[in-house]
Amino acid sequence: MKNKNKLNIAIIGLGNIGSYLYKYLQINKEILSKKNNCIPNIVFVSAKSRNKKRSIKINKKKWLKNYLDATKSEKVDVIIELIGGAEGAAKKLVFNALKNKKHVVTANKALIAKYGDKLSKIAEDNNVNLEFEAAVCGGVPIIRSLKEGLIANKINRVYGIFNGTSNYILSTMDKENKNFKDVLTNAQKLGYAETNPISDLNGDDVAAKLKILSSLCFNSFIDHTIHVEGINFIDKLDIDNANKLGYKIKLLGVSELINNRVYQRVHPTLIKKSSYIASIDGVLNAVIIDGKPVGQNVIQGEGAGPEATTSALISDISSILRGNIKFPFSISSKERKKLKYKGILERSFSAYLRFEVIDKPGVLSNITKIFSKNKVSIKRLIQNPNKFKKFSSIIIITHNTKDKFLNKVIKQTEKKPFIIKRPKIIRIGAN
Ligand SMILES: NC(=O)c1ccc[n+]([C@@H]2O[C@H](COP(=O)([O-])OP(=O)(O)OC[C@H]3O[C@@H](n4cnc5c(N)ncnc54)[C@H](OP(=O)(O)O)[C@@H]3O)[C@@H](O)[C@H]2O)c1
Repeated sequence: MKNKNKLNIAIIGLGNIGSYLYKYLQINKEILSKKNNCIPNIVFVSAKSRNKKRSIKINKKKWLKNYLDATKSEKVDVIIELIGGAEGAAKKLVFNALKNKKHVVTANKALIAKYGDKLSKIAEDNNVNLEFEAAVCGGVPIIRSLKEGLIANKINRVYGIFNGTSNYILSTMDKENKNFKDVLTNAQKLGYAETNPISDLNGDDVAAKLKILSSLCFNSFIDHTIHVEGINFIDKLDIDNANKLGYKIKLLGVSELINNRVYQRVHPTLIKKSSYIASIDGVLNAVIIDGKPVGQNVIQGEGAGPEATTSALISDISSILRGNIKFPFSISSKERKKLKYKGILERSFSAYLRFEVIDKPGVLSNITKIFSKNKVSIKRLIQNPNKFKKFSSIIIITHNTKDKFLNKVIKQTEKKPFIIKRPKIIRIGAN
């Protein structure tokens, strides 16, 4: 490797991902140098606490007391940010690194979803790379596919399963006939769900990834107009009902370009059992792209974990090792469009609605009247009475209706004295 160029790397953050990446780079330095014709050379590492026990052995000379020194050191070419979070240390590190003309690789979706536009402008102005393949769907190489392999295409829709934890919970509830709480507790024991899994369950994690994908697919700036629902309110009864009706429930992220307007949404969705996306179970992620002239493209794989995330980080590092400065969001900030992003109230969906009611005469007709008053037409109605407890579960499948009318039905029914629990709505289909 004597005559090869070298690129000096600082890894900041040595947790789950950082320590795995460190080991991987040590073991695979030679093959990566051959493949990229340039040596990836780790010069510094840093994390919060120097005395923490770690699974890696670090040469004392490589440890930076102050992680921000990596942004000032002349010895550093590339900074790999593996701290996490949109604010605080990660934000300081990445802004300073780019301002000081260091290439940056990050796995931080929260940071990119919030500051990606500002950061890419700084990277472009300073002629350095900002790479974030690992921030979206771990080992699924969707960012590079969009920027390179699919560059020929005008994309009109991107959708899929972008969160392994919620997908694991939904598919295990279904397969093992268990309720939400039990599956979540088990997922935490197995390490599939974090101790604090809020952003995995409330849809925020998917929303951050979808915002990044939308801006890449539609050449627009990142926009925060997005409808977000998580899986917290899905219970076993919904999973069973879905099964009987021929569906699976999946937490989908969907972004579509329709008549020059972008609609971004994250919510549990009833998906036909026979469809491809319904077969994606466990911690897997899948991203589906509709574009012209390519048609439909699908990439699936492990969405998280040190192995899959390191695969994505190495792809970014290799891209920098090979040279050339690329626009972080595929085209220059000057060329990115200010597209109109709209809420979903005017979008039409067929939907599943579930009402838990006191079982007494007149309730059903009261509910169906609210549907007809709001011009929501009913495709299918199932009533499951529980005579022992004197309540009844009413499931209604609607025809395609504007989301604002479905919301009105929910608002008007939930006030009724015969309603036991807040009515539920789960939209049907990815389009
Ligand atoms: N885990 C996954 O499966 C996965 C998948 C895709 C993307 N990501 C992303 O990868 C990033 C890292 O995730 P992770 O799971 O490796 O997190 P983690 O295990 O919590 O590690 C975070 C690291 O950051 C260090 N750190 C925290 N605050 C710091 C500060 N103020 N100054 C310097 N270092 C600081 C910590 O230091 P100490 O070790 O001293 O505490 C730790 O080494 C996140 O952006 C995450 O979203 C993770």
